[in-house]
Amino acid sequence: MGLLDGKVAIVTGAGGGLGRCHALALAKEGAKVVVNDLGGARDGTGSGTAMADRVVQEIREAGGEAAPNFASVSSMNGAQSVVQTAIDTFGRIDIVVNNAGILRDKSLLKMEESMWDVVMAVHLKGTFAVTQAAARVMKEQATGGRIINTSSIAGLVGNFGQANYGAAKAGIAGFTRVAAIELMKSEIMVNAIVPIAKTRMTEDVAFVPDDMLPEHISPIIVFLASDLSKGVTGRLFSVMGPKIQEYKYLVTDGAKAAGAMWTAQEIADRFNEITK
Ligand code: NAI
Repeated sequence: MGLLDGKVAIVTGAGGGLGRCHALALAKEGAKVVVNDLGGARDGTGSGTAMADRVVQEIREAGGEAAPNFASVSSMNGAQSVVQTAIDTFGRIDIVVNNAGILRDKSLLKMEESMWDVVMAVHLKGTFAVTQAAARVMKEQATGGRIINTSSIAGLVGNFGQANYGAAKAGIAGFTRVAAIELMKSEIMVNAIVPIAKTRMTEDVAFVPDDMLPEHISPIIVFLASDLSKGVTGRLFSVMGPKIQEYKYLVTDGAKAAGAMWTAQEIADRFNEITK
């Protein structure tokens, strides 16, 4: 008996790195998995079928069920095709892991419009597009569902050279909270992870140690995909190696203006009180 027997999962960007690991972990627990991957390079250029096909093969060799999809999640048609693969092959959708991603790093003053647009398209629009297409099916099925998005410390804390990527990843955190509220009545739980692991995306990032593995990240994907996480929604979980934490917003107690309105001078005078 697996935790996900009878469930159907979609994992985007599952041809390598974290996505491959999530797909294998979900399949090991009995889920039938659509392995989506565009099959391009780290910067999103190029495409191919080999990456997704290889992971499908790995899942089948381990005794699981999987089907490939090679579409880009960054268009509504591409996202629809990922969902259609799940319906055509396995007849339903229970779990979506929005994981596909690319990098086009450049400092803010040198960032080109195309670098901004393509990173927004893959991460932020891709997450929206796949979620919308899948949640429409989940609502029809009326058996609930699980959506797990992928945010990043680059967006929640900040990182030099990643204005496009950080903005997209912070957008995914906000999207997660709104989607959780809107989809709650259909019992579709929406959460996000904030991972750090050595993959091709972080192979040249010195602060990510070699022993922070994709395998460390996938258990929380299985948890959030399964009935073990019933009632958990709209939340962000950081996973770094063996450590899991929750991101929470901090709002200070603040202060009220002495009169009916603040003046700029009063804000300056009482800044420490406001921000304490
Ligand atoms: P990766 O580069 O190994 O995996 C990303 C996958 O997405 C690749 O297989 C790629 O072909 C696929 N992909 C790219 N564009 C696509 C598109 N338009 N449609 C479908 N598939 C597409 O990188 P990694 O590290 O596994 O990243 C997975 C996710 O985790 C990404 O969203 C990334 O931003 C996020 N992340 C990773 C961190 C890390 O430390 N590795 C840190 C924070 C976030």
